[in-house]
Amino acid sequence: MTQHLVVPAQPARSGGDEPAPQRTGWWRDAVIYQVYPRSFADANGDGMGDLAGIRARLPYLRDLGVDAVWLSPFYASPQADAGYDVSDYRRVDPMFGDLADAAGLIEDAHGLGLRVIFDLVPNHCSDQHEWFQQALREGPGSALRKRFHFRAGKGENGELPPNDWESIFGGPAWTRVTEPDGTAGEWYLHLFAPEQPDFDWEHPAVADEFRSILRFWLDLGVDGFRIDVAHGLVKAKGLPDLGVHDQLKLLGNDSMPFFDQDGVHEIYRSWRPILDEYPGERIFVAEAWTPTVARTANYVRSDELHQAFNFQYLATPWVAEKLREVVDLTLEAMRPVGAPATWVLSNHDVTRHATRFANPPTEATQIRTPGDRALGLRRARAATLLMLALPGSAYVYQGEELGLPDVTDLPDEVRQDPSFLRASGQDGFRDGCRVPIPWSGAQAPYGFGPAAGGPSWLPQPADWVELSVEVQSGDPTSTLELYRSALAIRAAHPALGAGDGVEWLDAPAGALAFRRSHADGAFVCVANTGSSPVRLPLPVPGRLLLTSGEEPVRTGEETVVPADTTVWWSV
Ligand code: GLC
Repeated sequence: MTQHLVVPAQPARSGGDEPAPQRTGWWRDAVIYQVYPRSFADANGDGMGDLAGIRARLPYLRDLGVDAVWLSPFYASPQADAGYDVSDYRRVDPMFGDLADAAGLIEDAHGLGLRVIFDLVPNHCSDQHEWFQQALREGPGSALRKRFHFRAGKGENGELPPNDWESIFGGPAWTRVTEPDGTAGEWYLHLFAPEQPDFDWEHPAVADEFRSILRFWLDLGVDGFRIDVAHGLVKAKGLPDLGVHDQLKLLGNDSMPFFDQDGVHEIYRSWRPILDEYPGERIFVAEAWTPTVARTANYVRSDELHQAFNFQYLATPWVAEKLREVVDLTLEAMRPVGAPATWVLSNHDVTRHATRFANPPTEATQIRTPGDRALGLRRARAATLLMLALPGSAYVYQGEELGLPDVTDLPDEVRQDPSFLRASGQDGFRDGCRVPIPWSGAQAPYGFGPAAGGPSWLPQPADWVELSVEVQSGDPTSTLELYRSALAIRAAHPALGAGDGVEWLDAPAGALAFRRSHADGAFVCVANTGSSPVRLPLPVPGRLLLTSGEEPVRTGEETVVPADTTVWWSV
């Protein structure tokens, strides 16, 4: 695969000695890079990534050209759900480092002109959290039990769960506890694993605690929070039955009594003033899986959160007509609330887009077959150029800039996804997108850890030797250099970045073409999602900036864009 760089690759901000100048509304067009701490870089050689490893690699992210880094959780946690089960919200888990490492990471990032976003997990904690442990000890009716959803069971002896809700990770969303006197007792609610009891957000102590946690990290200098399961905090009054099984299949399409309840918005309205007290335009981004982008827009009203992930976009197959529809729906939904659209293709919960697009078109986000890997990469590169050309903010998940595929053949014994271990549920194969990053060298863990031949918590495929940062750096045909070029162009071109609309141009079936205008220069993007070249009736005027594949062919009368290729022009 080749690409033709008309604009030479260069870091968006060279030098790095000076912090980037403050821009109003930096988050309106920010490219935010997700670091999954377990798998990014392992400084101490124990096989698990850590904060010191991330710190050491921050210059790589600055040179890549992203604006901010979002870190998945690194708090004290028994790791029943890879850190999304937090036992102490103010402590760094020793496996990742300590508070001084977190403070140092923020400081280093700021010195490089990067902002830092941490993950906040307010829907549930770990069953090892002090409150939950105390609730278990104090028994039914105690004050601490009221901070969670404890209920008596149904049936003659309370042997049935209090309602029919099913866990996202499979099985009932309730677990029965053994009371301090040894008898089988109440049940508690956990929308995810049993090790992740849901907080009862009706209880004022819960709300107080999270306001205090926000301040704790804001005081340390963090630039914002990604809010985990932001749509789940409030449950429908009375916890009503759904009356159906296989509830996971309804997610994303139907309204559920435990997701996207209107009451969640009051919580975010109470959080926003706290953030706004702090200088430096700090932000919240919602992980809110809602049935429609219009529902997502509710989370980003001007007195609530700043951004919400666009999962409808993430789940859209590489099909021009469907992409155009979701782009329009997104921009229309965000315009009235004045929030930036966001675009995302991969994260730590879904199959990487290089593998999704290697398989037949689907809206499924979990794919277990490798598919046609070369085709998947070709489409992934094209999809990335399309994403980065759209108005708003974009998210990049670590390793996608290397074109990494999902590892679909991990042996069962190394898998750690709690859903896999429960042998059912939605996301059982998420380990495949969490395999540690190959940085350099000829032997695993390819620079992820300090020693060749050293450990990594998930094994990397042998052919990742070819995908390392070291191998791809400086190779103009590599995916890494495509990302570097795209991000540099995006930062420099006046028509790219923030905005709330695109001007669609006529394009043959299977292709998308749009223009973005600015007084200082316009921009045209053409994405051909089809498997044969498309002919655009006119030569696209202007200067070719970047192509995800072969260069388009221009004659006097037409421009031919190759299959599965996205092209950028400055016009
Ligand atoms: C979010 C996280 C996911 C986690 C779940 C439960 O969806 O992204 O990784 O398993 O919440 O915390």
